[in-house]
Amino acid sequence: MTLKAEVLGVLEKNRSRVLSGQELANELNVSRTAIWKVIHSLKEQGFNIHSVSNKGYQLDTSCDLLSVPGIQAYLRKEYEKNELVVHSLVGSTNEEAKKLMLSGAKHGTIILAEEQSSGKGRFGRVFYSPPHTGIYMSLILRPKLNLQSAVLLTTAVSVAVCRAIEEVCQQSVQIKWVNDIYLNEKKIGGILTEAVTDFESGTVESVIIGIGLNVSTIDFPEELQSIATSLKPTQGTRNQLAASVINHVLSICENVESEIFMDEYKSRSTVLGKEIYYFRNGIRFEGRALDFNEEGALIVQTHENEVVTLNSGEITIRLIETE
Ligand code: BTN
Repeated sequence: MTLKAEVLGVLEKNRSRVLSGQELANELNVSRTAIWKVIHSLKEQGFNIHSVSNKGYQLDTSCDLLSVPGIQAYLRKEYEKNELVVHSLVGSTNEEAKKLMLSGAKHGTIILAEEQSSGKGRFGRVFYSPPHTGIYMSLILRPKLNLQSAVLLTTAVSVAVCRAIEEVCQQSVQIKWVNDIYLNEKKIGGILTEAVTDFESGTVESVIIGIGLNVSTIDFPEELQSIATSLKPTQGTRNQLAASVINHVLSICENVESEIFMDEYKSRSTVLGKEIYYFRNGIRFEGRALDFNEEGALIVQTHENEVVTLNSGEITIRLIETE
C-alpha cells in the first residue's frame, strides 16, 4: 500500500479528532515532512483535509469522496485484503468486472466508480449514474453453486443491501420484487446480476453482482423524477455505506443455500398481498401477489382464480393503485 493510501486510511479511521503530524509519522514510520507532502497531494486530489495550526490534520466531516483506504477502514477483517478498485469514471462497473473476471480475478473482487457513463439496469435500461452522489459497485463472485441456488443470489443481495443501508444511514428501506430498493415508495437503487454458467456441469462459475444506489442524487432526468429518489442520509459517508454493502453482501452470499434471508425478504416486500398486473407475451394479467417460493419466484393468484408462478427474468410487475 502506498503512503498516501495509508495516511488516508488513518485519517478516515480518526475522522472525529485532529491527528498531529508527529502521530501520523510515528504510526506510519516515516518523517513529518513525508506526511506533510502526502497531505498536500491528497488536498490537491480533492480530499478536504483541515490543517489545524499547531495541532495537526483532520478529514472534514463533509469529505465524501470514495477511496480504497476509506472503504477498507470499515471492512470486516476477513474482507480487508480483497482486491478493491475505485475508478473515477467508467462506462459500467459490471463491464469492468467482466474484463477482470475473464483475466482471472478472484472471488470477492470489488470494483467501484464515482461515475458511470453507461450504467446498465435490468432489461437493457440505463442506470443513471452521475458523479459523486451514488454508489456504483460490482462484485465478482465464484460461488460454486448449482443453477437453482444461484438464482437466489439476487434475492439474498437485495436483503444484504437493505441491511447495509439501515446500518449506516438508519433509514428503513423495502424491496420491490425482484431487486429494486425502495424508500418512501420511490426507487433508490437496484441490482443487476450477470452470470457465467457451465451448462454441462449445471453450475454457476462466476457471477457479477452490480449494485447501484442513489445516495445524494438530486437532479434526476425528467423521466425519473416521479419514480426515483435518493437516500440523502444525515449520517454516514459513501465509504462507510460501500463498506457495509460489501460486508453484508459477501457474508450473505456465503450462506445463500441456507435461505435464512427469505423471511426478511418477504417482510421487506412492497408487493406481497397487493393487487398487481403484469404482461406476459404482450397480454396483461391481473392478480394478487400471494408469496415467494424457495427460488424467489413470485406466486400470484390471478383474477381468473389461477395460481401462477412468475420468474424474475421474464416479466415486470406494477402495483394496481387502490383508492
Ligand atoms: C436496475 O435497477 O435495473 C439495476 C441497476 C444496477 C446498476 C448497477 S450500478 C453498478 C453496476 N454497473 C452497472 O452498469 N450496473 C450496475
